[in-house]
Amino acid sequence: MNHSWVEIDLNRLRQNVRALRTAIPEKTAVMLVVKADAYGHGLIPIAKAASAEGINWFAVAFLDEALKIREALPDVNILVLGLVLPEHVNLLLEKRIFPVVTCLEHGLSMGAAAQALGKKLPVHLKVDTGMGRLGVQWNEVSETVKKLDEAGGLEWAGVCSHFARVEPDAPDHASVQAVRFQAAQNALPSHVFRHISSSRAALYYPEWDFSGVRQGIVLYGYGATDPKGRFQTSPILQWKTRVVQVKKVPADYAVGYYGTYRTEYPTQIATLAVGYADGYNRALSNRGDVLIGGRRCAVVGRVSMNWIAADAGPDSGVKVGDEAVLIGKQGEEAIWADELSKICRTIPYEILTSIHAALERRYI
Ligand SMILES: Cc1ncc(COP(=O)(O)O)c(C=O)c1O
Repeated sequence: MNHSWVEIDLNRLRQNVRALRTAIPEKTAVMLVVKADAYGHGLIPIAKAASAEGINWFAVAFLDEALKIREALPDVNILVLGLVLPEHVNLLLEKRIFPVVTCLEHGLSMGAAAQALGKKLPVHLKVDTGMGRLGVQWNEVSETVKKLDEAGGLEWAGVCSHFARVEPDAPDHASVQAVRFQAAQNALPSHVFRHISSSRAALYYPEWDFSGVRQGIVLYGYGATDPKGRFQTSPILQWKTRVVQVKKVPADYAVGYYGTYRTEYPTQIATLAVGYADGYNRALSNRGDVLIGGRRCAVVGRVSMNWIAADAGPDSGVKVGDEAVLIGKQGEEAIWADELSKICRTIPYEILTSIHAALERRYI
């Protein structure tokens, strides 16, 4: 009653996986990106459900996330997309987790740590083809690989890159990256696992599938509604709370901190148990909607730390304890994270990953 909660539809996740799976060739692997607690959906339940649907590659940002997956899923492939330090090489080997090599120095230190253990560490080479973030510069790949081969300690298991920009109707920028990625692959054995495409690339550019596609947001149900895309998916997460008070207020009544909203008519204000401390963005103050009783109600006044106020309307019939939907569907109405992200001038990724991890996740 006093807290909001999150409902995750694992069946719909499975449908999303199937929609992707049937759209891409059988030989193309799907690597599910489950960093940031599976985009706020809960790492292990998502990984388990996806694994039951046949996904056997998972990508995370940090080693601790990889260890959690290994604990739950002993046989899947796990790749850490972020930096892993040489002091953890032992753990990587023991738990069969792939790190990426991000630059020559990193590769040398990882190789040396493996050699000190008398082993070779299987790694994926991360290539910067134009993202300007992590990875060996595309035009320095051959030289870097040569030096790392000479130094020893590493075994090339994969090579990857990341698109900075993918436009469905303007492939130029991504094409440049794809060409650089292809050239970089020549420096590595031909059997290595090659992957570059995140969601938008997989949706629109089959030619860049390579060995597998690294998919995040589309499998959580965003960004894949365009009929021109190779597949369509729908959101799997709903965020709900309850009405904790309903009050009748007159016209011209100030609501919330600094009275940024004044009622235009006598109405009923429903106070809901959610606030910015839970990840409900303050930019939704006086701009967002919530669903109560199957109707849209405006968020009025400023979003505060633990509560928001919604205008339920003069004769709403809304009662204390009623369910309110922040993200999701109620009756015929729906509010999804992309709607909120537009209001907040951000992206659905941020709306989803901002939902506080401590809030209860219910898996359906
Ligand atoms: C390196 C890398 N690969 C893949 C992804 C997945 O992207 P998307 O959710 O757009 O599929 C991300 C997301 O942040 C990423 O950083």
